[in-house]
Amino acid sequence: MSGNRSVLVIQGLTKYFGGLKAVDNVYMEAAECSITSLIGPNGAGKTTIFNLITGLLQPTSGKIYYKNQSILALPPTTIARIGIGRTFQEPRVFNRLSVLENILIGFPSQKGERVHHALLRTKAAFEEEKKNKEKAIEILEFVGLADRGSDLAQDLSHGQQRFLSVARVLASNPDLLLMDEPTVGLHREEIVRLIDLMIRLVKSQRRTILLVEHNMDVVMNISDEIHLLVEGHGIAHGKPEDIKANPKLVEAFLGTSLSGNRKKGEVLCT
Ligand SMILES: Nc1ncnc2c1ncn2[C@@H]1O[C@H](COP(=O)(O)OP(=O)(O)O)[C@@H](O)[C@H]1O
Ligand SMILES: [Mg+2]
Repeated sequence: MSGNRSVLVIQGLTKYFGGLKAVDNVYMEAAECSITSLIGPNGAGKTTIFNLITGLLQPTSGKIYYKNQSILALPPTTIARIGIGRTFQEPRVFNRLSVLENILIGFPSQKGERVHHALLRTKAAFEEEKKNKEKAIEILEFVGLADRGSDLAQDLSHGQQRFLSVARVLASNPDLLLMDEPTVGLHREEIVRLIDLMIRLVKSQRRTILLVEHNMDVVMNISDEIHLLVEGHGIAHGKPEDIKANPKLVEAFLGTSLSGNRKKGEVLCT
């Protein structure tokens, strides 16, 4: 992916919780239209980095740039609006809303929202609603839930709820998508579909993904760049073949053996 400009640049990022250095002087970049993975044992600081990028936490020190602009001190709502979306370790959906409604409420501007009486809603608001509904259906098709739109979110399986979580984030049309352990609790077949979805997000929609993932098969398969983090420190980074070339390092820290079949040098986006 060298040559693509960086969508996200993190420099010297540090976060203390009291005396604990959860994130310690971390440097990383995510190239436009690529998949960058963050790996490391529990407690390495991966989720904390996501919380810092999305503005839920303020760093002790360090810099975060999104499209060449510092996003430090911006509130989470602004960070979401300028194009950074995020999925959480557990699927977050509104159980009592339909699958389609779960996406509709994720669209940013709602012209009719401020006017409570339905009769007073403007033509523009109705048109926006219609457009949003079409977009929501498109998103459902993209994530493979087109036939579930009218079902309640609570009636979906755990795996389907995770796909719905991704769909909800896509409603805000993020250029940079942070995904925190998206394969947890998924069946093998669902993992295959999620990998396919992530690749399509990058390849056909030109989004950038920052991925936290424990499944090394997934990581080695789809990452352009991998960062290994241990106790808040960046220990190693490189392409999957670089990381695989040093299995002792990864096995020592992650206790896993490596496989993976992304073709050497293959790029998703050209
Ligand atoms: N809000 C918080 N307050 C205090 N300690 C925290 C907080 N969030 C995370 N930590 C601690 O920071 C370290 C890194 O956690 P986390 O970022 O969740 O790791 P990972 O996602 O890599 O498993 C852990 O030791 C965790 O207990
Ligand atoms: Mg975590």
